[in-house]
Amino acid sequence: MKRILLVVLGILVGAAAIVAIYRFGFRKSIPDAPLSEQVVAILKQNDCYVCHARTPELPFYASLPVIGPTIKAHATRAFLFTDLETKTADINNVDEVTLSMIDHAVSYGTMPIAQYKMIHWGTGFNKKEKSILAEWVRTSRAALYESHACKELANEPVRPMLWEIPYDKDKANLGERMYNDGRLSLDGTISCASCHILKDGGVSDPQHRTSEGIYGQFGGVNAPTVYNSYFNVQQFWNGRAADLQQQAAGPPVNPVEMGDQTWDDIVARLRRDKALVKEFETLYPGVGLTEATVTDAIAEFEKTLITPGARFDLYLRGNADAISKDELEGYETFKRLGCATCHTGIILGGQSFEKVSIYGDYYADRSSDIEYNADDEGLKGFTLNEADLHRFKVPTLRNIALTAPYFHDGSYPTMEEAVKAMAKYQLGKNLSDKEVISIVSFMRTLTGENPYLTAK
Ligand code: HEC
Ligand code: HEC
Ligand code: HEC
Repeated sequence: MKRILLVVLGILVGAAAIVAIYRFGFRKSIPDAPLSEQVVAILKQNDCYVCHARTPELPFYASLPVIGPTIKAHATRAFLFTDLETKTADINNVDEVTLSMIDHAVSYGTMPIAQYKMIHWGTGFNKKEKSILAEWVRTSRAALYESHACKELANEPVRPMLWEIPYDKDKANLGERMYNDGRLSLDGTISCASCHILKDGGVSDPQHRTSEGIYGQFGGVNAPTVYNSYFNVQQFWNGRAADLQQQAAGPPVNPVEMGDQTWDDIVARLRRDKALVKEFETLYPGVGLTEATVTDAIAEFEKTLITPGARFDLYLRGNADAISKDELEGYETFKRLGCATCHTGIILGGQSFEKVSIYGDYYADRSSDIEYNADDEGLKGFTLNEADLHRFKVPTLRNIALTAPYFHDGSYPTMEEAVKAMAKYQLGKNLSDKEVISIVSFMRTLTGENPYLTAK
């Protein structure tokens, strides 16, 4: 048995040596081509697409016993993390999450994974490749994702909140009233504001994991904040609404939120208010009060629910004293660990759907008090695609200090627990208390300002 193993090992080492010579000799050449083509060549010759692809190109020895299952496990986990091949297919128009991921892999030398590098000599970016990739990340960010940070910090994975988003004041005022209007619910008791309490971070009563809707019923998921929801690429944990207007159409006709009713019922009820009908006719000439205009007004109001002026934003905009040394260290830890790969951009999230429990079975570990339900399926519940099982929209970390409890199921009451769980399930890391405290101190600098927030 031992001898067979030795022979197999010998063959593997021999094969690796041949591969290495081949790589050093022929493959590590960067074409004299536009930056984007150079990037694809670099990712290819470092075998990034070998694992990070919808159908990874596994080598023949992936079907051998012992090492085979390990190789397959790596490829599966890599795909859960990022399908680089699909995501860089349009290399000139890459999403911000992918840019942050490549930025992380380059800056911290994390990829390919150590076991792979050990066998595939010559993979891992060399100096020249690193500088080309870094340049591409920088120029792509600048071209596609405008940052209002000071010049030195314009290439950070986190961008400052905008001071303002253009909006129609009259429609927003009307939308604000609709947001607070109980008549959107069947029995007149529930408004948007019941579950997204503006002075409390735009979320529901923190005493409960999920929100209380009509007739004292509790839904299956934790309400995300309405603050800065404008910046989400899609709305809801599973992305089933394309935008804020489409989102606002949902709760009123949800049986556990605002009641089992149709928009025809709601519009008929609202139309009894002649003054309101007139207002809608003035602002939406020729259309008047309809489902589309009520939800449009609410969406317009939600554009005002942004929270600029967080200390971290002041820092990004050039005020080095806006955050303490410890808080800055927390941000560095956040980046180093890879948190900023998913929690990136203006709202540190809201841009992609990521698998929860890459490194552990989140649901098996979860308290048995919480029953597994349809909402736990995540993106799959909307796309019906098996590959989307347990993928959730990455929640924003803005105002995170105000939005407990955490996760889609509201099962973590504190930021510390949420951070530890993230490190465990998303990164396979056990954080020290010091790291947790440090990251949380950074997260506290993300609390911004809005007139409704301070209206306490
Ligand atoms: C042998 C398979 C394999 C190869 C080859 C590989 N990866 Fe990975 N990659 C993984 C696995 C597995 C993970 C999940 C994290 C872990 O287990 O360390 C991952 C995670 C990542 C992540 C997210 C974590 C982080 O460090 O930012 C990025 C980005 C990434 N890979 C980019 C790359 C790039 C770029 C290359 C090419 C240089 C590459 N990978 C090559 C297996 C691979
Ligand atoms: C009964 C409580 C309840 C009411 C009433 C309610 N919501 Fe929500 N809201 C939630 C929950 C729970 C979610 C998450 C649901 C999901 O993702 O499946 C949510 C999600 C959202 C989101 C998506 C945020 C994100 O990050 O994806 C927005 C925006 C929002 N609600 C705005 C509104 C508006 C506007 C109204 C009034 C028309 C409203 N909500 C009424 C509980 C409520
Ligand atoms: C692979 C992508 C990914 C990485 C890496 C990641 N997160 Fe998350 N994060 C998510 C997703 C997805 C959720 C939603 C989980 C859920 O609701 O079940 C989340 C949720 C959170 C929450 C709870 C937010 C809320 O409002 O409920 C916090 C806090 C958080 N992450 C912090 C971190 C920190 C700190 C790190 C680094 C240690 C990190 N995340 C790394 C994807 C990621």
